[in-house]
Amino acid sequence: MEFYDSEKGVDQYIKIAEGYDGKELIKILQDFLPEKSSVFELGMGPGKDLDILRKKYLVTGSDSSQIFLDRYEKQNPDADLLKLDAVTLQTDRKFDCVYSNKVLHHITGQELKKSFQRQNEILNSNGIAFHSFWRGDKDENIEGMLFTKYQIDGLKKIIGNSFDILKINHYTEMEKDDSIYVILRKSSS
Ligand SMILES: C[S@@+](CC[C@H](N)C(=O)[O-])C[C@H]1O[C@@H](n2cnc3c(N)ncnc32)[C@H](O)[C@@H]1O
Repeated sequence: MEFYDSEKGVDQYIKIAEGYDGKELIKILQDFLPEKSSVFELGMGPGKDLDILRKKYLVTGSDSSQIFLDRYEKQNPDADLLKLDAVTLQTDRKFDCVYSNKVLHHITGQELKKSFQRQNEILNSNGIAFHSFWRGDKDENIEGMLFTKYQIDGLKKIIGNSFDILKINHYTEMEKDDSIYVILRKSSS
């Protein structure tokens, strides 16, 4: 992901994302996840959502970009951070929740399937996954970055039956209903 691996790309992202955060999504998550649960954020970027999440939960942040991790750690030397890829999720740790906000569109549908399998493995029993996606029918490539877009039915197919879908809905990020969030529970079977 070269764009996020350069200081210039990171600065550009921070500018574009000004005024946006996951506050409303995290309010929805709170209906499903008790306070003090452990939350593992994938693709934390500048860490705006991690800052909101850490008010209620025991958080671990992660990203594939060392630049984002270094910047956050400089401001928050006590932060628990991991550098890892959202597909392979190479960690032995387990969490009550895996969370991402507008990250998993940077991987293909096949990779998303693999990511869900790994998320299942690193979740405690009854664990929750919460993710947001861009909604649409046509993938895009912007500045060398993949933007995989989904409709609810397509996402459901990728999720398969290793998770129970607790909630899946459209929501508005920049334009009406341009996004989808999904809340999943690791299925007990
Ligand atoms: C659009 S930003 C979102 C950042 C943050 N979630 C937010 O809402 O501001 C995408 C983030 O995902 C990270 N990312 C992209 N592909 C990734 C991957 N395969 N594994 C882990 N992180 C990835 C990027 O480095 C970047 O920080």
